[in-house]
Amino acid sequence: MKQISVDLRKRVNKSYDIYIGHHILDRMPPLLARHKWGDRYVVITDETVYELHGKEFVSHLSKAGIPVEILSFPAGEKSKNINILIGLAEKLIGLGCDRGSCLIALGGGVVGDMAGFLASIFMRGIAYLQVPTTLLAQVDSSIGGKTGVDIKEGKNLIGTFHQPRAVFIDTFFLSTLPDEEFKNGLAEIVKYGLIESRGLFQFLEEKREEILSRKAEVLDYAIGESCRIKKNIVELDECEAGIRKVLNFGHTIGHAIERASNYRYPHGHAVSIGILAESRLSEAMGYLDTQVCHRIEQLLADFDLPRRLPPGLTYESILTGIQTDKKKAKGQINFVLLKDIGLPFLRAQVEDELIKNILETLIT
Ligand SMILES: NC(=O)c1ccc[n+]([C@@H]2O[C@H](COP(=O)([O-])OP(=O)(O)OC[C@H]3O[C@@H](n4cnc5c(N)ncnc54)[C@H](O)[C@@H]3O)[C@@H](O)[C@H]2O)c1
Repeated sequence: MKQISVDLRKRVNKSYDIYIGHHILDRMPPLLARHKWGDRYVVITDETVYELHGKEFVSHLSKAGIPVEILSFPAGEKSKNINILIGLAEKLIGLGCDRGSCLIALGGGVVGDMAGFLASIFMRGIAYLQVPTTLLAQVDSSIGGKTGVDIKEGKNLIGTFHQPRAVFIDTFFLSTLPDEEFKNGLAEIVKYGLIESRGLFQFLEEKREEILSRKAEVLDYAIGESCRIKKNIVELDECEAGIRKVLNFGHTIGHAIERASNYRYPHGHAVSIGILAESRLSEAMGYLDTQVCHRIEQLLADFDLPRRLPPGLTYESILTGIQTDKKKAKGQINFVLLKDIGLPFLRAQVEDELIKNILETLIT
């Protein structure tokens, strides 16, 4: 018997830079020219972002001599599906794209996840850049390389890890973002403070007004810190085998709320309630000081983020969601709990009765 080994051991450098600032898009063309991420670029966006920023974005690049086209699809989570993705792939073929083409995801998390997934499978993988335009995408979804689409059985069930070549975060985009979408991102920033940085948490407490009025320097700092925290965690655990799970603080109960509402309740709002619920769980289990728990609730209140279960949702339906997750994870669901601000840990065993008691405290 012959044996021939296919030796694929290699070190791959998937490092990339995140550029953050206000009105920084004029810095993009020289970087594209220097790095040559693609020999041509196709912007993927949704129709809302296309109307608000797409044409200007494209004209910015074309004026600098960068070959660029733009494709859009209807805005919203409903579009994050395989059929729209295939439609986009067909259009890329129609445009004559090949393995040298590079996609640019211009939009929120839906666009980022779709464009990233498309880039990971088109012609077996091409380069892409992230230009996030929602606060949530700027602090979360554009970094870390998780891509995917939803199927009827659930969200993000088909996807890949495919890192972008660069992320350009221009806080100018946030000037057109509706308040409700802005809040979605704020909940994630509060989470970053809680899992990693007392400094960021305190900054959020002190700069509430400036953050809510979207003052550029203040947002730059909060977004920069959030990106730094996320990138540190992604560097340690790119494919979420361990430590990356701490990014799910507030999300175990948050996801269950989203699911129980049939995804009608916005993600960041559900995460806000999840943050409070999981802080109270940490307190009830004797890990977190009551004063700190109050401080967390106060910050959520300062940002006018929800702290009570949405009307019409029963805690039973939320518990069912958590139990479904538990079954999928072979009976073990890791809650992220807190010992203090900046001190998270994973805890597999949390009694259903205790979760129920905590959820009861959040009924309006
Ligand atoms: N890949 C990851 O690591 C990761 C992490 C978190 C969330 N996600 C995914 O992100 C998605 C949610 O992202 P999202 O909250 O950005 O939602 P989204 O992409 O649907 O954007 C929300 C809405 O804001 C509009 N919009 C975007 N930018 C705008 C701007 N500058 N001005 C005005 N309107 C603008 C969009 O058209 C859309 O209607 C979900 O699908 C979620 O699964 C992915």
